[in-house]
Amino acid sequence: MQTILVGVTGGIAAYKTVQLVSDLIKKGYDVEVIMTKNATEFITPLTFSSLTKHDTYVDTFSKHVHYSVEHISLAKKADLFIIAPATANVIAKIASGIADDMLTTTFLACDCPKVICPAMNTNMYENPITKDNIEKLKHYGIHIVEPTSGLLACGDVGKGKLVDIEVMIDAIEMYVHKDKPLKGKTVLVSAGATKEAIDPVRYITNHSSGKMGYSIAKAARNLGADVILVSGSDLKDPYGINVVTITSAKEMKEAIDNYKKEADYIIMAAAVADYRPRSVSDHKIKKSDDMSLVLERTDDILKGLGKDKTYKLCGFAMETDDLIENAMKKFKEKDLDMIVANDLNTEGAGFKGDTNVVTIITKDNIEKLGIMTKSELGYAILERLMEVK
Ligand code: CTP
Repeated sequence: MQTILVGVTGGIAAYKTVQLVSDLIKKGYDVEVIMTKNATEFITPLTFSSLTKHDTYVDTFSKHVHYSVEHISLAKKADLFIIAPATANVIAKIASGIADDMLTTTFLACDCPKVICPAMNTNMYENPITKDNIEKLKHYGIHIVEPTSGLLACGDVGKGKLVDIEVMIDAIEMYVHKDKPLKGKTVLVSAGATKEAIDPVRYITNHSSGKMGYSIAKAARNLGADVILVSGSDLKDPYGINVVTITSAKEMKEAIDNYKKEADYIIMAAAVADYRPRSVSDHKIKKSDDMSLVLERTDDILKGLGKDKTYKLCGFAMETDDLIENAMKKFKEKDLDMIVANDLNTEGAGFKGDTNVVTIITKDNIEKLGIMTKSELGYAILERLMEVK
C-alpha cells in the first residue's frame, strides 16, 4: 500500500482537502495528514484522523509525537507528499528552506515526489515574490499544480482557486507511479463520441462516454508517456495531458493526422460516427409530418492509420454478435497491431459504466480478460501493446 502525506495549510480551501483525503483512502492509499497551526482554524485535526485512522500531526513536539523523531519516520514512509491548499506563506517558507513546524520540517526531510497546490488571493498569487518562490520550487523538482481562475473566497475574481479534487488525484497518480516504461514515448489516444451536425441545433451521435479512452490516456501518462488525447467527450481535461477537443469525425481525423507523426502508439478508443448528414442546414429545420435525412459515409480514420505505419496501432471493436469473428475481420482489414474487442451484451461491458470486459487480439494471441475497471484496463491494454513486436 502506498502512503500519501497530505499537508494542509491555513486557507479557506482546506475544506476541500477533507474530500481529497477521503477519495484517496477509497482508492486504496494509506494517508497521513500534517496540518499547520493556522489550518486548524479552518478544519479540525479530528476530521482528518477520523478518515485516515491515524493521528493528525500539527506541532513537531506535540504529545502524539514519539521519541522516534516522527517527522523523519513520516518522511521515510511517504511515497508522495502533497500540500493542498498551499498558502503564499508556506510556499515562501519552503522556497527558503525554513523548517519551523511539523509540516515544513517533514517536507524538507522528504525525498519522495512532492506536489504543491497553491490557493490564495489573486494579488498574493500574482505578486512577483510568490511567482519567484514558485519558480524556485519548480527548479528544485517540486511539481506545482497551478490554481484555477474564478470567484475567490475574498470576493475577488482571478487566479488563485484551489484546483478540483480530480485534478489533485490525477497529479498524485501521475507522480506517485514509479514505473515509467513509456518515458520518451508519445501516445495518441482518441476518445468519446463524435457529433455530426444536422442543423444549428441538432446532431447525430452515440452513447460513448469517453471513459475508456480517458483511462488509457491517464494510464499512459502515469507510465511516463507524453499523451495527446483527441476527444469528443464532455469529461474534464485530465491533468498532464494535451487534450485536443473535436466535434465531428472530420475534425477528429484532421487532429489525428496532424499529430500522428509524433506518435509511437496510437489507440483509437473513440466511437467515431460512420455516417454524417450529406448536407447541414444553416437554419433550424422546421418540423413537418415526416422527415428523411440523407447520410453519407465518414472516413474510416483507423483504416487510414493502418497504411505506412510508423507507430503501433490499436483499434477497438464493439460488437453485439460474433465478437471474435468480427473483431478479427477489423484487425486484418485495418492493418492493426492489436484490437480490443468488447461485446455490448456482456454484463459489465460497454459505454457508460466504469468497468469493461474485453478480449485482446494480436497477431499471435487471443486473450479474454475478466471484468476490470476501465482504469485497470487502461494499463492492461498499454502493457500488451508495448509487448507487440
Ligand atoms: N473507427 C474509425 N473511423 C470510423 C469508424 C470507426 O477510426 N469512421 C474506429 C474506431 O475508433 C474503432 C474501430 O474503428 O477503433 C472499430 O470501430 P467500430 O465502430 O467497432 O467498427 P466499424 O469499423 O465502424 O464497423 P461496424 O460499424 O460495421 O461494426
